[in-house]
Amino acid sequence: MYQRLARAWAFCVLVLACCAVAQARDLPQIVIVATGGTIAGAGASAVNSASYQAAKVPVDKLLASVPEISTIARVRGEQAFQIASESFTNEHLLTLARKVAELAARGDVDGIVVTHGTDTLEETAFFLNLTVHTAKPIVVVGSMRPGTALSADGALNLYDAVAVAGEPTARAKGVLVVMDDCIWSGRDVAKTINIRTDAFQSPWGPLGMIVEGKSYWFRAPVKRHTTESEFDIARIVTLPRVDIGYGSGNANGDAFKAFAAAGAKAVVNAGTGNGSVSADVVPVLQQLTSQGVTVVRSSRVVGGGFVIRNAEQPDDKYGWVAAHDLNPQKARILTMLGLTVTSDPVQLQRMFWEY
Ligand code: DGL
Repeated sequence: MYQRLARAWAFCVLVLACCAVAQARDLPQIVIVATGGTIAGAGASAVNSASYQAAKVPVDKLLASVPEISTIARVRGEQAFQIASESFTNEHLLTLARKVAELAARGDVDGIVVTHGTDTLEETAFFLNLTVHTAKPIVVVGSMRPGTALSADGALNLYDAVAVAGEPTARAKGVLVVMDDCIWSGRDVAKTINIRTDAFQSPWGPLGMIVEGKSYWFRAPVKRHTTESEFDIARIVTLPRVDIGYGSGNANGDAFKAFAAAGAKAVVNAGTGNGSVSADVVPVLQQLTSQGVTVVRSSRVVGGGFVIRNAEQPDDKYGWVAAHDLNPQKARILTMLGLTVTSDPVQLQRMFWEY
């Protein structure tokens, strides 16, 4: 009698174990590429939500801190860097994009999550959006508070990012950013607030939301990205120097002259209003254009609208490029990539309309 019961019990355990293995085998395979930032940060106490040290917690510890992730995906971590993102360089961008592209090409990878500091997260997301040729979900995620803080946002952001990266409906939507329950396009999301957890916004709104691990989509990108991009990280060896100058009252062109003297191949003007350029700066930028330096007009005004051509400055006459809705830091990313293909301002302008 007892032997039969024991055998029945053992059989049930075996069946449950097989179901668990089969279920786990059905979970998406996600790789988390860690670069540092606040999501890997640590503060001296739980009330240090804004003063802390970024880039301290290694990726395996980050994963271990959110055990619920193992119920939605088979994940493994890779530590690409351990830095605060304000220190990202072009070399970091190239290295990261090559790593992401290499992972995306693997048959045992269904999606990729990049953990990143929030300060330059928007630049990295846009760079990956333009250079990694894959339809697999690539999700960039960060946090505004370290994991040691009260009401830390990193754990849920990371869980949500893995959920989206493993979601088939997230395919072919370009590089995504998941922050604060929202799914953003890596193309046009930006950090617009420097302390709150709802820091990331786009003038065109989120693509969707992620709630309790389920993605809800409301729109899809219409600009070129990933597999439709003419830029391919596999063919990019180095990036040209492109610098940003800030427009304000009493502006002068000294910074732009210094950028060009230091080897900048293009300068981005973070202009006032519609990317307007001070009368004292126009001749400096015209001189740079005549020296072969590309001039791109962006705007310091964020949160909506876009720079149009031939507004207060005759771009057609000057041979300048209008940055459309891209903020200065994103305009720098596209200009760098554009210059790996051409220095023709007409072709560069096409790129700003298309990407
Ligand atoms: N040092 C900033 C960075 O790594 C911290 C901000 C954050 O990650 O939220 O971008």
